[in-house]
Amino acid sequence: MALILDGLKIRDQILKECQPRVAALEAARCLPGLAVILAGDNPASEIYVRNKVKACQELGIYSEKLTPPETVTTAQLIEMVESLNARPEIDGILVQMPLPKQVDAKRVLLAINPDKDVDGFHPLNLGRLVTNTPGPRACTPSGIMELLKRYNIPIAGKHAVVVGRSDIVGKPMALMLLHQHATVTICHSRTSNLAAVCREADILVAAIGQPAFITAEFIKPGATVIDVGINRLTSREQVASIFRNAPDKLATFEKRGSVLVGDVNPIDVAERAGAYTPVPGGVGPLTVAMLMANTVEAAERRLDVCSA
Ligand code: GUN
Repeated sequence: MALILDGLKIRDQILKECQPRVAALEAARCLPGLAVILAGDNPASEIYVRNKVKACQELGIYSEKLTPPETVTTAQLIEMVESLNARPEIDGILVQMPLPKQVDAKRVLLAINPDKDVDGFHPLNLGRLVTNTPGPRACTPSGIMELLKRYNIPIAGKHAVVVGRSDIVGKPMALMLLHQHATVTICHSRTSNLAAVCREADILVAAIGQPAFITAEFIKPGATVIDVGINRLTSREQVASIFRNAPDKLATFEKRGSVLVGDVNPIDVAERAGAYTPVPGGVGPLTVAMLMANTVEAAERRLDVCSA
C-alpha cells in the first residue's frame, strides 16, 4: 500500500513551530502583521483568502483583508500596495492571484517591498531563488519541500518531473528540487510523450489544473506523487468514473453537488505510487502554513532591524 503524505499533520507541525516565535515577537512589541489584497470576485480565491486570514487568527497574527472591486485598475492596486509598504506594522503583503484581466499583475507584484513579499513573487526574490540565496520563497513549492523533508523522501540524484510551468508553482518547484540536487524535467501542455516522461519520475509533481489528468500510465511504480491540483467535479458521471463508483464519493456528491479531485487520478495513484499527497488534505494546507512561516520570518527581520 502506498504511504499517504499527510499535509494536515505537517501543517500542524509547521504552525506549532511558529507559535513560540509569534509569542516572542509579541513580547518584543513586534506582532507580525499580514495584509491580503483580494481583488474582484473569484470564488476559489475567496476560499483561499478566508483560510489564510483564519490561520492568522488562530496563530495570533494581525491580519487585514482589502477587497477592491473587479473593476480595480493597475494604478489603484499599486497605490494600495505602496500604502501597505509604508506601514511598519504590516510585515507581509499578499496579492491573491489571479487578478482581474485588465490588471498588469507583474507591475503590481513589482510594487511590493521585497522585504514584505511573503509570497516570494517579487523579481528580486525570484532572483534569490534562482541563485539559491536566502529570501522568502513561494509558499506552495516550499511547503512541498517541507513535506518531502519531513517524510525523509530522498531527493538528491532522483529524477523529478514537474508538470506545469507557472510562476507560482511549476517554475519555483523545479528550482527548489534542483537545489536539492534532483535531476529536474519541467513538462507542459506542449510536451511530447508526456506520459512516458512522467513515467521516468521518482518524484512527480502535478500542477496542471485538470481533474485526474495523471493516470496510471504516467506513474512509475513506487514513485512519490505530489498533487497540487484542486478541481471541483460537478457532474455525477465524472465523479462515478474518476472514483470508480466509490459509494462515499457518490454520497458526497448527492449531499453537496460537487466533489474535489486533484490533478492526479486518486485510485490509480493509491495503487501504483510509493507515496502520495491526497486531495484534499495534501498540498493545500501546506501553502497556508508556509505563508504563516514567511510572515513570522518577515516580522523577525523587522525586529532585528529595529533593535540593531
Ligand atoms: N493563487 C494561487 N496560489 C496562490 C498563492 O500561493 N499566492 C497568491 N498570492 N495567489 C495564489
